[in-house]
Parts: sequence; structure tokens; C-alpha cells
Amino acid sequence: MPTKTKIVNYKAISLFSNCGAGDIGFRKAGFQFEVMAELDPRRLEVCLLNHPYAEGVKDDLRETWTEVVEKYKARCSNEPPFLLSACPPCQGMSSARSNRGKEEDADAGSKDSRNLLVEVIAKVASELKPKLIVVENVPAFLTRKVRHPETNESVSAASLLISRLAEDYEVFPLITDLCDYGVPQTRKRAFLTFVKKDLEGLKQFTETSTIPFPRPTHSDEFNGGISISQALKEMHLPILDAKTSEKAKSNDPLHFVPVWNDWHYSMIAAFRRIQVQVLGRMTNVQSVEKLRLVWRTFCVQNVIRLYYARLLKTKKEIIDLLKGFGLRVTEECRLTNLRQPLQRQAVISEATIQYIHLKIVF
Ligand SMILES: C[S@@+](CC[C@H](N)C(=O)[O-])C[C@H]1O[C@@H](n2cnc3c(N)ncnc32)[C@H](O)[C@@H]1O
Repeated sequence: MPTKTKIVNYKAISLFSNCGAGDIGFRKAGFQFEVMAELDPRRLEVCLLNHPYAEGVKDDLRETWTEVVEKYKARCSNEPPFLLSACPPCQGMSSARSNRGKEEDADAGSKDSRNLLVEVIAKVASELKPKLIVVENVPAFLTRKVRHPETNESVSAASLLISRLAEDYEVFPLITDLCDYGVPQTRKRAFLTFVKKDLEGLKQFTETSTIPFPRPTHSDEFNGGISISQALKEMHLPILDAKTSEKAKSNDPLHFVPVWNDWHYSMIAAFRRIQVQVLGRMTNVQSVEKLRLVWRTFCVQNVIRLYYARLLKTKKEIIDLLKGFGLRVTEECRLTNLRQPLQRQAVISEATIQYIHLKIVF
């Protein structure tokens, strides 16, 4: 994807880079990646297309981290990187699957060796001494317990990393929802920003009690989130239809949908009916009072989830439906692709469904 790039001069390295998508943001902010490391060779190949200036290190970082250090030093000699960006894999953090054990179960957490990959970040940092380290992960990164490799204590992966870097770095944690920064999707993420203790700017942060994170640009306080329909509209893409192979694709090779068989297609198309049934089942009444009561139990900070299928005229239909119940919808938030909640409700287990968050005033 073409990107508008700022004048680049801050040297950076990236670990667990994947295709380098997140690091494009850093590049736009003025960082230049010298070395990028990724396990999967195909992902690394794409990453280097996205960051042509960088040198790649492939394979398992537990084996290759010294190569990252050597390559960086060969390119930049003794100048420390300004930034180390790292986004270790998050699959092992989740306690959703039973074989991962409870979040508090440190033995189960350590069984997935990916949960200890933060060690690699600490090793590279201790060799290259970057001024800033930014680690991004799912919120469970801050809570999922693992066994400390030396003390055997039960600690979170984040705490393990913090303890490894404590001597040289001050850490600033943040849990945020990326929709507050204009991503058309609800995506909660944890960030740890480590600032080198001898960095002049750190004094400013501590003296003024500020934190090194940008302010949200799209939270409720500001403009509100960007919906998926707004985001798609900006791309000026033709509307697709999963019914036939001609209508399921466009001239843009990246803009296509799978062709569904008749059964799948009609099931999704019938979703409106099911949606009404779901609401009916949830409420079991026509009374607005009872509806409010039931929905409150579904609410997290006044945000409720309503399911809908892609083929419907989503927002308007749902809003009309809610208005019919006498509820006022104040804000459309964003969309997320989620199968699980639907599976739990056993409504349409196979459908690719998305859900919409609506803010309701009770
Ligand atoms: C969560 S993704 C990183 C996403 C990235 N920040 C982006 O914006 O696309 C984690 C990446 O770490 C890679 N990875 C997992 N284990 C690794 C290892 N042992 N060594 C190097 N890379 C690894 C995975 O292949 C995956 O691409």
C-alpha cells in the first residue's frame, strides 16, 4: 500500500514484524527501520516490500536475535537505535481455550513457549540500548501468568519484560481501544512504552506527569469512531454480491468476496428474520421496560452488541428496529468480525457475521 512518508531520520529495528503493517505507522512518524525480524519467510518477504530500506532477519528470534544485533551494528555502527518496536505473538496469551488453562495458571502459561518470547526483546535491548521500546499486544499480555525462568515466580509476560529492563528503562503502560484512534474496528490493545532513563525527554514526562502516548483522535470526546461503512466508502469500491462469481469480484484483485452456495446465501439473507427472533428471545416481551432491563445485562458501559449480516442495510435497519422499541440510538461505533458470540448463542454457527456496537440511551 503506498504511504505518505515523513522525513525519516530516527533509526529503528522491529522484532516479530509480520508484514510490517504496524511499523508503517512508525515510518510515517519519522522512523526508519534498519533491521526487521520475522519467523515466517513469506511474511518477511511482504514486510521488506513494505519497508524496502530495511534488512530482514528470518526464522526464530530465539536463535536469530544475535543476527539482528550484528546486522544493526554493521549498518549503524555504535549509534543506538531510537526505537525498538516489538509485537510478540499473542495466541498463547488467551485463556479462551481450555488447554491454555486459567489466566492465573502460570504453569499452563509457560507451556506455550511463545509467552516467553519477551526474553528476546530484553536481549536485543540490552545489546543495542534503544532509546525507546514500544511493545504492543493483547490486554492479557499484562495479566496472563507465566513462570519466571529463573525465580520460578508466577509473573505476567509484561512484568517479566519490565523486570528485565528495569535498570535502564522507565515503563509507561497503556490499554486502549484502537477505534479511539480512527481504526474502524473495536480492537483493545496493551502497549508498554519503555523510555531510556538517560533520555532527556523522560524528565519532562515525569516532571509534568505526562505519558508518552498520543491523545485519542476519535474517541467519544472528539469526533467519535469511524464506522466500517465510512471507511469502505472512502475506498470507492463497487458493491459485491456473494451470489455469483461475476458479482463477487471487482477489478481490484484485493476486493472480492467468496461465492456462497444457495444454502449459505439464503441463510445469510434470512438473517433479518433471525435477528428479530433473537431480539424477541432476548426480551420475550413487547414491553420497553423489560427490553431495557434485559439489554442492560448485555451492556458494557452503555454499549450493546447487535448482530447483523453483511447483506443487510445494516445501520439503518438496526436503528429503525431500536427506534421501534422506543430506544434512542446516539452513536454508531464500529464493527468487528466475530464468530464466537454467535456460536455461543447457537443462532447461526457457520455464518460469517459481524456485530455492530450501538450506543443506546436508556
Ligand atoms: C502479532 S504478529 C506481529 C504483527 C505486526 N506488528 C504487524 O503489524 O503486522 C507476531 C508475529 O511474530 C511472528 N513470530 C512468532 N514467533 C516468532 C519467533 N519465535 N521468532 C520470530 N518471529 C516470530 C509471527 O510469525 C507473527 O508474524
